[in-house]
Amino acid sequence: MAVNICGTGSYTPSHVMDNNGIAKLVDTSDQWIRERTGVERRHIIDGETTVSMASEAGRRALQRAGVAPEEVDLILVSTISSNVILPCAACEVQKELKASNATCFDLSAACTGFVLAYNTAAAYLAGGIYRTALVIGSESLSNLTNWRDRGTCILFGDGAGAAVLKADGRRMYLPVTHSEGQKGSALSLKSRHDWNVLREPEGPGHYDGGEYFMQMDGKAVFQFAVKKVPEVIRETLKRNNVGQEEIDWFLLHQANRRIVESVAKRLGEPMEKFPVNIQEYGNTSSASIPILLDEMNQKGMLKKGQKLIMAGFGAGLTWGASLYEWI
Ligand code: UT7
Repeated sequence: MAVNICGTGSYTPSHVMDNNGIAKLVDTSDQWIRERTGVERRHIIDGETTVSMASEAGRRALQRAGVAPEEVDLILVSTISSNVILPCAACEVQKELKASNATCFDLSAACTGFVLAYNTAAAYLAGGIYRTALVIGSESLSNLTNWRDRGTCILFGDGAGAAVLKADGRRMYLPVTHSEGQKGSALSLKSRHDWNVLREPEGPGHYDGGEYFMQMDGKAVFQFAVKKVPEVIRETLKRNNVGQEEIDWFLLHQANRRIVESVAKRLGEPMEKFPVNIQEYGNTSSASIPILLDEMNQKGMLKKGQKLIMAGFGAGLTWGASLYEWI
C-alpha cells in the first residue's frame, strides 16, 4: 500500500521584506545576502498566525484534491513556531476547516518536519489505520528570529504548505531518516515558558538575549547539510532499488541556495532538477518543501510517472529523504 498526493496548497503572507529592509536592522547588504544565501525577500506575518496560514494552505489543498473536510481522518501539522501550545495547531486547523472526523496532532522536527510528517501520515495510511490525511508545514519564524543577529535574521521567512494524502494500492517507497542529538547545539532555541524568564522583574518577553531566539552555528549546519543530504538521498535510492537517473526532481528544504547547489554537484546532477524558490520566501523551515511542491504543482511541472525525492535537514540535528512517484 502506498500513498497518493491528491492535492497541494500553500499560503504566504502578502507583507514582504526585501534585503534592503534587513540591512536597516543589521550590518549587512542586499549583495551579501543574495550571494551567500540566494534570498532576495521573505514574506512576514502581518496579522496571520501559524494556525491561520496552516488552515488556509490546508483549505486550498483540500479544494484542489476535491476532498471534503469531513473525509479527512488525520491532520498532522509540522511546526516549531505555533502561536498555540494548547490545543495543538492541528486541532485549531481542524476547528477552522470543520474537519470533524480527523485525529489531530503536531510534530516538531524543524526543517526535517515536513518529510517526517509525510512519512508518519504515509505509515498510518499504509497500515490501513487512516485513509485520508492532511499534512501541513507552517511556520512563523519571524517570531523566533533575533532581528539583531545578522547570522540568522537574513535567512528566515514565514509561510505554510499542505498536501492531501490518500492510501492507494501502488508500490510503497520506504524513506530513510536520521537524527544526531549530540550535535543539537548547532541550531537551538530555548522555550520562553521557563521560570527563569517568568521571574525576571520585567516579566516574560523582556529577554532579547540570544538563547530565547533561534541560535545557529551557520557554518556547522551548512557543512552537515552538504555532507548528509547527498548521503541520505543515495541511501533512499538504494533502499528502494531505484537508480538516481530515474529521479526527475529533487525537492530540497530551502535553507540556502548554496546548499542546494552543493548537493546537486555532489550528486552529479544538473541544477535544473533542483527547483529553488528561496529567493522569494527565504528559509521557511518545515513549510519550505510543501510550498515548493505546491508551486511546482500549480505550474504544471509535475507529470504523471515522474519520480521525486523530498529531502529535509536541520535542527536536532535531523535529516531524511522520501521518494514519491507523481500520479
Ligand atoms: O534550515 C536549516 C538550518 N539552517 C541552515 O541550513 C543554514 C546553514 N548556514 C548558512 O546558510 C550560512 O552559514 C549562513 C548564511 C548562515 C552564513 O553564511 P556563511 O557563508 O557561512 O558566513 P560566515 O558565518 O562564515 O561568515 C563569513 C563572513 C564573516 O566575516 P569575516 O570573519 O570573514 O570577516 C562574517 O562576519 O561574513 C560575515 N557575515 C556577514 N556579513 C554581512 C556573516 N553574516 C553576515 C551578514 N552580512 N548577514
